[in-house]
Amino acid sequence: MIDVLVTRKHTEAEGICSFELTALDEQPLPPFSAGSHIDVHLPNGLVRQYSLCNHPEERHRYLIGVLLDPTTRGGSQAMHDQVQEGSRLRISEPRNLFPLEHAAAYSLLFAGGIGITPILCMAERLAQAGADFELHYCGRSEERTAFIERIRRSGFGDRVQFHFDSGEASQRLDAPEVLSAPAADRHLYVCGPSGFMDFVLSTGREQGWAEAQMHREYFSAAPLATENLGSFEVQLASSGQCIQVPADRSVAEALLEAGIEIPLSCEQGICGTCLTRVLEGEPDHRDMFLTDAEHARNDQFTPCCSRSKSARLVLDL
Ligand code: FES
Repeated sequence: MIDVLVTRKHTEAEGICSFELTALDEQPLPPFSAGSHIDVHLPNGLVRQYSLCNHPEERHRYLIGVLLDPTTRGGSQAMHDQVQEGSRLRISEPRNLFPLEHAAAYSLLFAGGIGITPILCMAERLAQAGADFELHYCGRSEERTAFIERIRRSGFGDRVQFHFDSGEASQRLDAPEVLSAPAADRHLYVCGPSGFMDFVLSTGREQGWAEAQMHREYFSAAPLATENLGSFEVQLASSGQCIQVPADRSVAEALLEAGIEIPLSCEQGICGTCLTRVLEGEPDHRDMFLTDAEHARNDQFTPCCSRSKSARLVLDL
């Protein structure tokens, strides 16, 4: 954990604020690579993940961007309403689940809305390395699109195409055209609302892109279907104890009620913090952290959101 001070809070666009965080002890912050995020412990007790969007060589600050989303569970509201310049926060060290493939000959970056945050950091890194890339930044309108000025003033502004829903049809993202030339040394990266990401990824598949060359980071999960959820039991391999998981509880909640605490962060199947080994049984995977191939192995699952297809799961706990 790192104690930080909010040294700047700035409105970047309609509904989007950036927060500059510096270490309370004024020491350099831990280094990070492009695509990294931090956990932010909010004043209301929630923990949320935010991507770092400053230059990855900076050690004197972290910069995050937060979209006010009244439909979420209160994380962005707390950042906008309760966190001001001078506020103190606790954050985790940066973790990177969305790293760049540095061997790529060409990188295509796609950002939808606030999904620009990790993508901007990647663009900074690629530009600094002299790598070949292009960035497509889609937003509803110029007023609701963050960091436009920073991008225009950057040394890589000519590699960025803005696509606004409110603009003329000719400037909209033509994804089939942009993705028409997959190659073994080309990689694409996408971050944004899940509908936008699904659109880019499904277009990539249609155009022949391999899964291994399409990299994604979800910043919030689509609401899980809660109808027809069944109950099942989990067994702890160490003690043999069996714990019932009712339809209205997650595995993590049922474990906690039984006094077994597992590390949690996003609680939406995005971050992988709760990943637990499965020794027997077939999980019903509902996360976006593991790949399809990892899901198919059925040897680990995310108890914050995933469930079970079999009557019992034996967990390596
Ligand atoms: Fe993030 Fe489970 S806590 S995936």
